[in-house]
Order: sequence, then structure tokens, then C-alpha cells
Amino acid sequence: MDKRVTVLDIQRMKAEGEKIAMLTAYDYPFARLVDEAGIDMVLVGDSVGSVVAGYDNTLPVTMEEMLYHSRAAARGLHRALLVVDMPFLSYQVDLREARFNAGRLVKEGGAQAVKLEGGVPVAETIRAIVDMDIPVVGHIGLTPQSIHRMGGYRVQGKQDEQARQLLRDARAVQDAGAFAVVVEGVPANLGKEITASLDIPTIGIGAGPDCDGQVLVLHDILGLFDKYAPKFVKRYVDLSVPIRQGVGDYVREVKDGVFPGPEHCFK
Ligand code: KIV
Repeated sequence: MDKRVTVLDIQRMKAEGEKIAMLTAYDYPFARLVDEAGIDMVLVGDSVGSVVAGYDNTLPVTMEEMLYHSRAAARGLHRALLVVDMPFLSYQVDLREARFNAGRLVKEGGAQAVKLEGGVPVAETIRAIVDMDIPVVGHIGLTPQSIHRMGGYRVQGKQDEQARQLLRDARAVQDAGAFAVVVEGVPANLGKEITASLDIPTIGIGAGPDCDGQVLVLHDILGLFDKYAPKFVKRYVDLSVPIRQGVGDYVREVKDGVFPGPEHCFK
């Protein structure tokens, strides 16, 4: 087993030009598999609300749900750094609540770092959590918890002023003490500019190839979620086919009395 990845390793990877590979996982079996496949960071994302719970967006996800999924994923990891999303309303109300909820994700959920969405407006919150010695990943650009303000999942930073604001957001997140920042849904040239302007690593999702790392939602790359398919997703395998096939075979064998066979019965 390789040694556990730490926030220092993630920062060293940027310094040495080594790309950082991050994926979501929300439970023990998938966390084990992605860990064994060599992923650097696992994110228990609030995307769990969309791809596992079937909500229309991430807003309904609660702290208790994040804690449940975080604990399950943590048990499957031996190498990757575990980052857990702070769900909507767990950090926006006041600093005291934000610090308490970040602490719960570490203490009860096994998180090694937390992620929260926003730039300049959440810088003080990031600082407050970092001051508790909890590493923070920022998240700027297309921030799914802001779906109602954005009017849907839209590419951000296309206009000059929006792009300048995103550069200010990135800088504010870094200055507040975040050790990395997810940059989502921005034009590739802006992803490159943000990356060049920061000392901390950028982890892109729909932000082009020049970010220091990439993150995707596991269920998207495995073909396990097809409600919508953002342009930035690459489906590496379609597991829905063998799953439907295997379950269909089981149903037929039960109906036909073929399963269980003698080898599955106790004497
Ligand atoms: O919730 C999530 O999975 C995320 C990633 C898509 C970055 O925030």
C-alpha cells in the first residue's frame, strides 16, 4: 500500500508539475475501487444528492446525509486524501455554525479536508475554518449551490467583467488559506489564466486542460447517471449495460427455477 496522500503532497504536485486526479465517491465499495485505481483525492461531493439520491439539484442535501456518505467512503480509503463537501446552509449562515459543521465532517465523517463554494463572499468563512486547522478546498465558477442565482448550470466568466471577478474570487480563496480550489464551468483560457495566477493547485471540471488537476463525478464517467450530461464529462465505461444484463439474467433464472442451483444450497 502506498502512503496516504496529504495536503502537502497535493501542493507539491503543483510545484513539480504533476497533474492531480480527483473523483467523487459516496460509499465504501466505490471508494475502495477508486482508491485502488490510484486516485489522488476523493471528493464526497454534494452531487450525491443528484446522482445517488435522485434530487433535481444539490440544495436539499443535509449535513446528516453528508456525514453518512463520508463515513462510508472513509472506510474504503487507504491512500487518497478525503475531501468532503459542506452542503448548502451548513456554512452560509454564520461563522460559528460553519466552523462547527466543518468540525463535524472531520470528527464524525473522517474528512481530511472540506470544500465549500464561493469566492470573495466566503473568504472569511474559509479563513475561520482554516484557523481550526481544517484544510479547505475552495470552489469557484459554476457553483451548483448557486443554481437559482445563475439561472441554471451555465458556463461562467464568458464576459470580461465576470472573468475579472472570477480571478478576484480565486485570489480571495487562496489568500484566505485554502490549499486548493475547484474551478468549474469556465472557458478553457480562463481556467488557464486562473491557474497561472495562483500558487495553490486548481482542480478543473469543465475548465480546460491547463488546470493543475481534474475532477469528475464518478457516476458520470461510469455511465451510471444519464439525467443530464454536461459537455465536460467523458464516459470511460458504460456500466449500465452489464448491470442491466446481470440483473436481467438473475430475474430470468429465478423465474425459470434455474437459480439457486445445487451448488448454492446447504446440505
Ligand atoms: O459535488 C460535487 O461532486 C462537486 C464536484 C463536481 C466538483 O462539487
